[in-house]
Amino acid sequence: MQHKKVTIPDLQAKKERGEPITMLTAYDCPLASACDQAGIDMLLVGDSYGMVVLGYESTVPVTMDEMIIACRAVARGAKTAFLVGDMPFMSYQADAAEAVRNAGRFLKEGGMDAVKLEGGQEVVPITRTIVDAGIAVLGHIGLTPQSISKLGGYRTQGATAHAARKLLDDALALQDAGCFGIVLEKVPDRVAETISKKLTIPTIGIGAGGGCDGQVLVIHDVLGLFERFTPKFVKKYAHLHQDVATALEAYKTDVESRAFPATEHSFAIPDAEWQEFLGLLNE
Ligand code: KIV
Repeated sequence: MQHKKVTIPDLQAKKERGEPITMLTAYDCPLASACDQAGIDMLLVGDSYGMVVLGYESTVPVTMDEMIIACRAVARGAKTAFLVGDMPFMSYQADAAEAVRNAGRFLKEGGMDAVKLEGGQEVVPITRTIVDAGIAVLGHIGLTPQSISKLGGYRTQGATAHAARKLLDDALALQDAGCFGIVLEKVPDRVAETISKKLTIPTIGIGAGGGCDGQVLVIHDVLGLFERFTPKFVKKYAHLHQDVATALEAYKTDVESRAFPATEHSFAIPDAEWQEFLGLLNE
């Protein structure tokens, strides 16, 4: 188990040693603490929070205030993992000063170590500005769910020679802008592996094959807690939605049959007090 707080140099050293970096999303204190106990290197408070916890149709509606509440809960639960807060849609696109202020909120109010923002060469200027303000930035290219409408759906990115070349150029530009790592989402495995080899900073893949320097998945997918859909790149390690439903049915049956609460769940009054109480009933 890791006891020392993970840092950017630790992540960089893992890439250099060829040791895979482990990353999951987290949105609350108990699961963040379980991730820490499992020794996960990095936690992302992703804007996927909006979909898997808050029930929005996409990540687009998530607000800064919603993200900050989730970040604070995760920071209370995880003491060793490196923590990244996901900047929500329109928190960094419109105005540079607002973007820096919002990135700063993730550190000052949310307890995060870094922020993530989506986009390639178009976000290089704002990435540089945020890095210059002293805030570590994780890039995110390939499938960028905040631009889902512009991309025309959740399809694989970089699947043609020119699109793959553009992805590599985006990755190199983000590295040059000061990102400490880059998420590659839903990118063909050979393309992701090539990008990973060309970069000096770590890549973290999600649906990008085994050639990335690390892997990230949405924790609700990994635990089988999100039932609406399961992307092909997800491996489920538990089926908690079903386990929870089964447990709750058992609770309902016990309450309805009066099997719960039993004596061990109840509190007693001493006999003498009880007798006195009975006497008081008729006063
Ligand atoms: O919000 C999120 O969960 C993400 C990951 C899919 C990388 O951005």
